Amino acid sequence: MVGIHHPRNLLLVGCGNMGGALLATWANADTLAGTAYCVIDHQPKIQIASRHSVRLQAHHNLDTVSPNYAPDIVVFAVKPQELDAMLPAYAKRFALKPLYISIAAGKELAFYARHLGAAARVIRAMPNTPATIGCGMTVLCRNERASEKDLEEAKLLFGAAGTVANLDDESLMHAVTAVSGCGPAYTFLFIDAIMQAGMQRGLDETLARTLAEQTVLGASSLASASRGESLAALRQRVASPGGATEAALNVLMKDRGGLAALLRQAVDAAVARSAELASK
Ligand SMILES: NC(=O)c1ccc[n+]([C@@H]2O[C@H](COP(=O)([O-])OP(=O)(O)OC[C@H]3O[C@@H](n4cnc5c(N)ncnc54)[C@H](OP(=O)(O)O)[C@@H]3O)[C@@H](O)[C@H]2O)c1
Repeated sequence: MVGIHHPRNLLLVGCGNMGGALLATWANADTLAGTAYCVIDHQPKIQIASRHSVRLQAHHNLDTVSPNYAPDIVVFAVKPQELDAMLPAYAKRFALKPLYISIAAGKELAFYARHLGAAARVIRAMPNTPATIGCGMTVLCRNERASEKDLEEAKLLFGAAGTVANLDDESLMHAVTAVSGCGPAYTFLFIDAIMQAGMQRGLDETLARTLAEQTVLGASSLASASRGESLAALRQRVASPGGATEAALNVLMKDRGGLAALLRQAVDAAVARSAELASK
């Protein structure tokens, strides 16, 4: 089995919002010290502040990368629709040697096998934007060619950007996309809505935003620290019978529907769209 020797050579293809955020966290991670990065992007906008001395080269395309360059890992962080046209060149250049990791939403492992070769070691990763500040949630799913060691390597990379989970059943990646991939957007909407509601009741914008942000952060941290208790129990601890919280929950949980039913519909819509995009 091909293993990754250290220090590793990592090729990042696409250095936009997500690729750039990952590169910044990797460059600062003690666990990845010594890694040599090569970045390919139409317009590499690379700004890295790191206390490590980071070995990094940037290119506009694969053509200017030295023919002797041999990456251990290739991470694709381009839009899904770019992949069809670009993967053949990478397959031709690097063949089966690297571990290929892709963060492109929707594209299935079989798609990479078609373009990179049936024997290519491939891992799909679904990160989310809090990875930018090291608080991301990434779910990994590997093909049958990728080894346990490859998975550990991917966990090391995405672990530098937050929490990592692993899925064996690839069909669940649509649900992952709908929950944690898209989820930050739902949460920003929720924070915004509480902030606006607070402002409507007289709080100034700065205070309302601080209250909303800190409440979501604090409640989320408390839930993480209280895994032995159900979320319903944590909720009930805030809501004394006949009190103000209960009055609000009666609105949010109206007729056993309310917010929970709306979120189920939202996740269903995201799952359906993710599956639709994957089939294109
Ligand atoms: N944003 C999220 O919340 C999120 C979450 C999970 C997964 N993802 C996935 O992450 C991937 C990247 O998303 P993003 O938001 O970071 O997109 P983005 O900001 O557009 O970044 C993609 C970068 O790749 C460059 N690029 C395009 N074609 C290329 C090529 N052939 N070779 C080299 N570089 C190329 C783009 O340059 P140009 O702009 O000049 O074309 C751009 O700088 C997507 O597949 C998405 O599904 C995103």
